[in-house]
Amino acid sequence: MPAVFAALKGMPDLVSPETDRRRALVDAFATAAGRAGYGEVQSPLLEDLGVFLRVGEATDVVTKEMYDFVDKDGTRIALRPEFTASLMRMFVEHPPATLPWKVWTTGPAFRHENPQAGRYRQFFQLDLEAVGAADPDVDVEVIAVAHDFFRSLGLTQVSLKLNSLGDESSREPFMAALRTHFDANRDGLSEQSRITLEKNPLRVLDSKRDYDQAVISSAPQMIDFLSAQTAAHFERVQQGLRAVGIAFTLESRLVRGLDYYTHTLFEFGADALVSSQNAIGGGGHYDNLVEQLGGPSTPGIGFGLGIDRILLACDAEGVFGAPPRMVAVFVVDTTGGSSAVALTHELRRAGIGAERSFDGRSMKAQFKAADRSGAAIALVVGSNEEADGTVVVRDLRASDQVVVPRSDVLAEVQRRLVANPLRLP
Ligand code: HAM
Repeated sequence: MPAVFAALKGMPDLVSPETDRRRALVDAFATAAGRAGYGEVQSPLLEDLGVFLRVGEATDVVTKEMYDFVDKDGTRIALRPEFTASLMRMFVEHPPATLPWKVWTTGPAFRHENPQAGRYRQFFQLDLEAVGAADPDVDVEVIAVAHDFFRSLGLTQVSLKLNSLGDESSREPFMAALRTHFDANRDGLSEQSRITLEKNPLRVLDSKRDYDQAVISSAPQMIDFLSAQTAAHFERVQQGLRAVGIAFTLESRLVRGLDYYTHTLFEFGADALVSSQNAIGGGGHYDNLVEQLGGPSTPGIGFGLGIDRILLACDAEGVFGAPPRMVAVFVVDTTGGSSAVALTHELRRAGIGAERSFDGRSMKAQFKAADRSGAAIALVVGSNEEADGTVVVRDLRASDQVVVPRSDVLAEVQRRLVANPLRLP
């Protein structure tokens, strides 16, 4: 007996119509990003491990979840757990002629997490980055692209949380105050958070463990440590969001799971999802990532949106279903001759979605298949029609039919599809 395999845990197979829906979702994103002047880029799934270590050596993404291994030539490489570090490697390797570099990308990313609804080991992101402009208006532009994209899907229950992590100069006193607070309250911290504290006190704020929450909620807040310059940046972002009518709430404990952020930080939550996996996207500003990857000091801001979770949110809100099938016409042929093959291909060449049955199925079975296909029209060729040089054009919704000469079939189908645009493929 040959071995029977199953897909790896947390790496779901995807099939149509789910795949059609995902393609439509990426198209909607390409439209929203394209309108704001962002062009598509594609980076490889695999990178030198060092690229992703810049995401933060104290983050779960790097310490626990990375799929890394030694390649055949001894290089340590990793499957991307996110896109930003890859794209900044690309930016440094191929410096763009003009700034800001405004790009988006999509594809799978990999994190070795405990799979559950909305959390997978292979998941799909839409990522967008604007690199090389420090203007707070860029932060607004980036957030607005995500916001408009969610709206274009029909989602209405998406909330935006906003915070600022300040710059280096405001971060240092904040980190010191955080360390003092956590050191003084070590007993109230879980074992894991005490370990995290040694590496990066900021990461402790990201703990979801119940045991830590009392100490976290009494911790100092970044907002009280912002320098005049970072406070002005943050204020300007908020003004901009108000100017474009995007609602947000300030969330001083928002830190997110990656280490490269400075200044603006944001997260989109799907309120229709009750699960703890309701973060459908997040991002922020980063001042040092490009430099850490060997490039010139360059600010950037961007976001990653989780396609899998956005679709769960769409299901919960009952919006953005699978696009209609491409099949407009089903060819039913009981002659066993070449009518079906000829008619089907004539329609397809004319740009009309057409399907047929194979293996000499009965008329009844073919009509069942026609119904299942979602086609609006059936073209029927039996021995009588073949002898007369005609075809029956049957409206599958209204269940009426006409007989037309074979040579007029294409025109008749086109006329019907134009007359009723709902039937257009
Ligand atoms: P992130 O918050 O780690 O940010 O991921 C962004 C989004 O990807 C999350 O909000 C979530 O929707 C989705 N996601 C993450 N992990 C999983 C998973 N295991 N299963 C399903 N969905 C998941 C980043 O990745 C940053 N690179 C975003 C960014 C871009 N910041 C600046 N530029």
